[in-house]
Amino acid sequence: MTTDLSHYWMPFTANRQFKTKPRLINSAKGMHYLSSDGRSILDGTAGLWCVNAGHAHPKITEAIIAQAGTLDFAPPFQMSHSKAFEAASSLAAMAPAGLNRVFFCNSGSEAVDTALKMALAYHKLRGEPLRSRLIGRERGYHGVGFGGIAVGGIAGNRKYFGPTLAGVDHLRHPLNIERNAFSHGMPQHGAEIADEFEQRLLALHDPSTVAALIVEPVQGSTGVIIPPQGYLQKLRAVCDKYGILLIFDEVITGFGRLGTAFAADYFGVVPDIICCAKGLTNAAVPMGAVIASQQIHDSFMQAAPENGIEFYHGYTYSGHPLACAAAIATLDVYREEAMFERAARMSPVFEKAAHGLRGLPFVKDVRNLGLVCGIELESIPGKPAARAYEVFERCFWEQGVLIRTTGDIIALSPPLIIDEAQIQQLFDAIATVLKTLK
Ligand SMILES: Cc1ncc(COP(=O)(O)O)c(C=O)c1O
Repeated sequence: MTTDLSHYWMPFTANRQFKTKPRLINSAKGMHYLSSDGRSILDGTAGLWCVNAGHAHPKITEAIIAQAGTLDFAPPFQMSHSKAFEAASSLAAMAPAGLNRVFFCNSGSEAVDTALKMALAYHKLRGEPLRSRLIGRERGYHGVGFGGIAVGGIAGNRKYFGPTLAGVDHLRHPLNIERNAFSHGMPQHGAEIADEFEQRLLALHDPSTVAALIVEPVQGSTGVIIPPQGYLQKLRAVCDKYGILLIFDEVITGFGRLGTAFAADYFGVVPDIICCAKGLTNAAVPMGAVIASQQIHDSFMQAAPENGIEFYHGYTYSGHPLACAAAIATLDVYREEAMFERAARMSPVFEKAAHGLRGLPFVKDVRNLGLVCGIELESIPGKPAARAYEVFERCFWEQGVLIRTTGDIIALSPPLIIDEAQIQQLFDAIATVLKTLK
């Protein structure tokens, strides 16, 4: 039977191009997909930065099946079920010390919008209503809700959708290829760009008007931007100095991507709020979460009238039973199989293989941290993104390897279970294609 491709309007996809030669996947297990034409495809992207424990982990699958047969849904407003509390406790136990109050949603975008609303409401409840300004970063990606695109910094995601939130401003991003090209791990140069937070943005707006700064500890979707040494510490210090909340969007860095539970642990910088999603359930059921400090949570509890709702926010599917069952099982798998430690052990192997691409045609930069790598290619004049797209297509069709590209940057983020031979296969496939590009 041929599939009718006309009705599905695909997200973030060149629909017309895709439908001329569709890339369809029929099943997945561990490190591999099975494509609709029967080929085994190595997953170099953990789906979309999300299948950290590998595909179809039996413990996660079984937990979802069992939950579907026991409790399919329970209303989340003024009602709940025990798995929601269990999932929250398990996540709080994995989070950095002091971050232990969990609000559930269904995606990274919702986690971001939830965190921004939490930050705005928090200051109002504490009697600082002037703090209504949010600061994001150029090239930041915080999902596609109106809050997320307002603090995000990708022109294509913003240009059609109006002025969005008022009062948002942006820091410059810290990518500096001229000074840091081919850095192994965190770049040495550029932490001083964090100084403009205080010297430019806070000087312009006045710190007393700023509610929160939101950053991805490692910028992922916009092409893997690794923070320079000392940069995040500087942002934390300025937030502390002026009572501004620091929000880490850990939608891609959470759950072992850098070899630690969260990037906050890797960098030794603890924010006031963490947004997460993706690896929380190994992507088997959609789920996002906001992990707030107890102090933020308690401010809400203390400010609301007795028996009153403390936070006017939530989703029909907040703490959905299937998502909670998947999250509990996933977090257990990460702990029991020591997957974050495994990712940390594999990171030097991954780094070495990644930098093996240096010197190949069109390779302008390779940057890496943990099990994340960005390979920036020189663009074809007048055809931005075309060169990387060709590598993506040829890796899929000719090499049996799934990579991801954004602009002319290849972004790799394999499942944490990848082994040495598979790391080599991934980079060999890219090298083979690069060597034959015209
Ligand atoms: C840092 C970051 N925040 C938010 C999101 C949005 O998540 P979702 O697509 O689940 O809404 C993403 C997605 O890639 C992301 O990378």
